[in-house]
Amino acid sequence: MCGIVGYTGHREAYPVVLKGLKRLEYRGYDSSGVALLNGGLKVYKKKGKVAEMEDAVVGKDLHSHIGIGHTRWATHGEPSDRNAHPHLSQSGDIAMIHNGIIENYAKIKTELVSKGYTFKSDTDTEVLLNFIDDIKKNNECSLEEAVRIALRRIVGAYCILLIHKDDPETIIAARKGSPLVIGIGKGEHFLASDASPIIEYTKEVVYVNDYEIAIVKPDELILKNLGNDKQTPFITKLDMELAAIEKGGYDHFMLKEIFEQPQTIFDCLRGRLDADKGTITMSGIEKYAEQIIQAGRIIIIACGTSWHAGLVAEYIIEELCRIPVEVEYASEFRYRNPIVNKGDVIIAISQSGETADTLVAIENAKEKGAIILGIVNVVGSSIARLSHAGAYTHAGPEIGVASTKAFTGQLAVLMMVALKLAQVKQTITAERYTSLCKELAEVPDKVADILKLDEHIQKLAEKYKDATDCLFLGRGYNFPIALEGALKLKEISYIHAEGYPAAEMKHGPIALVDEHLPVVFVATKDSYHEKVVSNMQEIKARKGKVIAVITEGDTVSPTLADDIIVLPPADEIIAPLLTTIPLQLLAYHIGIAKGYDVDKPRNLAKSVTVE
Ligand code: M6R
Repeated sequence: MCGIVGYTGHREAYPVVLKGLKRLEYRGYDSSGVALLNGGLKVYKKKGKVAEMEDAVVGKDLHSHIGIGHTRWATHGEPSDRNAHPHLSQSGDIAMIHNGIIENYAKIKTELVSKGYTFKSDTDTEVLLNFIDDIKKNNECSLEEAVRIALRRIVGAYCILLIHKDDPETIIAARKGSPLVIGIGKGEHFLASDASPIIEYTKEVVYVNDYEIAIVKPDELILKNLGNDKQTPFITKLDMELAAIEKGGYDHFMLKEIFEQPQTIFDCLRGRLDADKGTITMSGIEKYAEQIIQAGRIIIIACGTSWHAGLVAEYIIEELCRIPVEVEYASEFRYRNPIVNKGDVIIAISQSGETADTLVAIENAKEKGAIILGIVNVVGSSIARLSHAGAYTHAGPEIGVASTKAFTGQLAVLMMVALKLAQVKQTITAERYTSLCKELAEVPDKVADILKLDEHIQKLAEKYKDATDCLFLGRGYNFPIALEGALKLKEISYIHAEGYPAAEMKHGPIALVDEHLPVVFVATKDSYHEKVVSNMQEIKARKGKVIAVITEGDTVSPTLADDIIVLPPADEIIAPLLTTIPLQLLAYHIGIAKGYDVDKPRNLAKSVTVE
């Protein structure tokens, strides 16, 4: 939530910061702004997307070798020019940007107001900034020292970047709970919420830890903790190419990411699954396999699409490994005083690795002695670093706000985890294990075949785009896929959509069914197929419009459905990796047909770093 960029060095700062903001725009697009230092602090900011700010500064003198920039997902205060970052302190001495939420801002604001401070915005950020400036003036100390003193009183999450009017070289940065990466160049440093604004310039980066303050100059990077002790920066080499964060000829990142899935699933399986030898190698999981098996249960914690991946995993792990699994919304788990004991196994699933609720939930569980296994896409992210072990999904950067390839990466990893544990626990026969390994290895090719249905699905999108509501139904392994299909559609097309277990539909949602309601059935051949077909009958009897995702060779569903999407056959355990693809395409094409910005749907942000 919110993207931040900073630069100090020999280049012109504005183009670097602007390009960085465009790369981070997926994190929020309510407003954007930059602060530069050129004969005093210059702040330019504008409500709306980065392009609007870019237009607004045409003709201005943007020369500066230091700069900070921000793209906002509003928390405190409506999206507006006034609430856009950077903010200037009342004295005009300091400019600051912030990603996060200062929970005790109201108390600090009251104190500052009593000292005569006035505020131009409704933001918690402006409060923290004036608090820092006030401390600096009262203590006659450096900006770095003032930040340190202020942050000791702050409750909440932050990544902040500050520049001072009298220091044309130094950016002071600090983080707790919101990410910060610093790229190390020759005589220059780059700061950002993730590595995407940096990889073009350098592959050497430092991930700043919670409670660290960075003093960043062109030739120097000093890290300190809040106690003023120097910390050794740990330099990591980025394993990411520039092409991975560009659209590569596609109209939208979402479409590119959907079409990348044969490759990303292949990358996820590569080096782990050897279907010919029947082996699965996952060192992070293997190290804890015995403990997982001994544990009375597995708790899966996630949000949104990642939570849906967790639900699929619940069904698969319980079936194959006979280990009880609970799937929890991170936001509920962290506040409801759950029972977590030493040695409990928690699997945290997150694309970004920065989701605040998931992060805090596992921090709490770790403190209680739980083993944390992270299934994460973004390498080096907070959840990845907090986990004892885990597995990356290797889907590459996912820029579209709607999660697509990260979801299939999560499913692929979780299926391998389940197979590995089942093998160690000996709850799977050798034949079934070998057959599932083979089927898993075939998924990239099958996904490539399904993507050939794109044109057909685009036509369906035209036909159903004016629906006001939509139901998604599935059973068993395909029930979470129905939930995910509904989430994708509502995020991208703003059509109200609900996912339901197909049989549960008659306990309420069936009241919605009439000749205007499209009902998407995820109805591939599995143990529940006949029952799902009966549910289809029930919808047709009430004149609902049925769109059925079915398996090749199914002769019954086409006689009931208004429209069909035919997929290659697959074992029911593997099927979710296939059935989700047409639902991603359907949501994408309906969003496009309605003229929406599918990469940046309204009100959403890619990385939800606030609770
Ligand atoms: O980065 P995470 O996987 O932790 O994010 C969780 C959710 O915020 C995310 O899946 C969200 O629901 C997506 N917009 C879904 O497309």
